Amino acid sequence: MRDLLAALTELRERLQEIPQADERRLQDLKTEILGRKAGALTKILVALPGLEPAARKQVGAAANTLKREFEAALAARERGLKDAAGVAAGVDLKMPGRARWRGGLHLVTRVMDEICAIFREIGFTRAVGPEVETEWYNFGALNFPKDHPAIDAQDSFYLEGEGGYLLRTHTSPVQIRTMEQHRPPIRVVSLGQCYRRDPFDPSHSPVFEQVEGLVVDEGVTFVDLKATLSWWARRFFGPATRTRFSPSYFPFTEPSADMQVTCAVCGGSGCPTCKQTGWIEILGSGMVHPAVLENCKIDSERYSGFAFGMGPARIAMARHGIPDIRLFFESDVRFLAQFADAAGGAP
Ligand code: PHE
Repeated sequence: MRDLLAALTELRERLQEIPQADERRLQDLKTEILGRKAGALTKILVALPGLEPAARKQVGAAANTLKREFEAALAARERGLKDAAGVAAGVDLKMPGRARWRGGLHLVTRVMDEICAIFREIGFTRAVGPEVETEWYNFGALNFPKDHPAIDAQDSFYLEGEGGYLLRTHTSPVQIRTMEQHRPPIRVVSLGQCYRRDPFDPSHSPVFEQVEGLVVDEGVTFVDLKATLSWWARRFFGPATRTRFSPSYFPFTEPSADMQVTCAVCGGSGCPTCKQTGWIEILGSGMVHPAVLENCKIDSERYSGFAFGMGPARIAMARHGIPDIRLFFESDVRFLAQFADAAGGAP
């Protein structure tokens, strides 16, 4: 037993060889000490069963401790050699990995989805319409009198050739297409791109998104309009949000009203986003004009409805205090990534 303990003490000395060993020497040391057949330490461990119980316990404990020390030292040296090889080859294996580029939805897209999801909770479904429209759907059916100045306010991109086609200036033509295809009750939201010959400046873009809503049924009143839109605003901007309606004009609604909400950035106390007023205008709305219902062969004596249209880019700006609409189009990842959600992932 003494011999075995002495042998262990001697073996322990050899631990010191490990930190200096090169790769070959390391393999040799492994075999010499822990080798399955002739390893010096293995031999001691193999001899254990032949010892007296007391001796077996003492030598066994010492031998196993030493075995673990050798294993740890060998593994550490192996790792060290590997890292060193990487650095020599110009690769730093300890450098953190690069996160994968996952992309994400654009802030305006996310805002549109959110707007629609809230309306879906109260029974609105989604309607779609084309971006290239006829003058009839874009203006005429919506009760714009021919050559009325309201048409000039939506200066349009006309397509060349016959037919009077243009890029839609708003999503309201989808109201007409919906009412032509479906009888009341109607409850839809529609969203998509619209085009106007506007300058590209901090608050205008010649191409922009709109979200449109339309409700037609028996007995729909202005109270329904106010209640629905105010409820939506509180769901979207937060429960403390207040709304206010002011008279407006659209040929296709009567009466018409713009809706303002308390500024989401300052809570109504006044800041640059709301131009110190505490309020932000976010949508146009009104009761569907009887002439529009009649254009779609819906009996305006029996049915009434309300409609609204909003610009999700402006809403996103109001919510986040974004000062310039052009930021949405520049594809600057430093800007966009600020709004990437956890699921979409920032780059
Ligand atoms: N279409 C109008 C616009 O683009 C907004 C609107 C929609 C107003 C529906 C009333 C009802 O300005």
